[in-house]
Amino acid sequence: MKGGKKDMVKIAPSILQADFAKMGDVIKDLENANCDIIHLDVMDGTFVNAITFGPKMVRDIRKVTTLPLDVHLMIVNPEKHIEKFANAGADIITIHQEAVDNLEECLNTIKSKGVKSSVSIKPATPVAAILDVLPIVDMVLVMTVEPGKGGQSLIEETLDKVKELKRLREENHYSYDIQVDGGIKANTKDKAISAGVDILVVGSAITSSSDYTKAIKELKGE
Ligand code: DX5
Ligand code: ZN
Repeated sequence: MKGGKKDMVKIAPSILQADFAKMGDVIKDLENANCDIIHLDVMDGTFVNAITFGPKMVRDIRKVTTLPLDVHLMIVNPEKHIEKFANAGADIITIHQEAVDNLEECLNTIKSKGVKSSVSIKPATPVAAILDVLPIVDMVLVMTVEPGKGGQSLIEETLDKVKELKRLREENHYSYDIQVDGGIKANTKDKAISAGVDILVVGSAITSSSDYTKAIKELKGE
């Protein structure tokens, strides 16, 4: 997908606001609705206020879909838990720059488990904070809202970081995909796409819709 303008944007629904009691059906419905990645938000009550779920949920979701699972770790000390999420079936593990002391080591631990490595930055964190790891990551997740809950409004200035990451990728022949997460819906997605994202993480705009297929088609511009 790397930077090609003609490539269609991929959609990664976040199940954060779905009904957890119906998770198997939600995942199957999302798969049938032609999404590309399932985005799983792990929150620990410390890095962010909310608490969601751990590896068991990833393991159970793994049984009902062949789609890639991106586990977005909004937790402190993510290095302690990488192996458990990798063994649970994660295809991509996203850690926060703000949550670790040795970012490169943590990303290499993810890669050593055969999982794609991804680094995320909160709205106030500049791209400069992750420059050293750009040559080795598979994905960069630019938070377009403060992490911690769904249903917030896009912080438009964060899209400047998407442009910067796209430029850096081109200049240096890096290979990461660029994702955005938070506040993406039908009336904001075009701004993110013009900035150069490859993947849109979308929570409420999909899971609050009664027709996932229609919502995803709209987001893909089909
Ligand atoms: C927020 C999570 C998001 C969330 C996005 O901290 O990382 O993945 O589900 O939700 P929306 O799309 O509703 O902003
Ligand atoms: Zn997320």
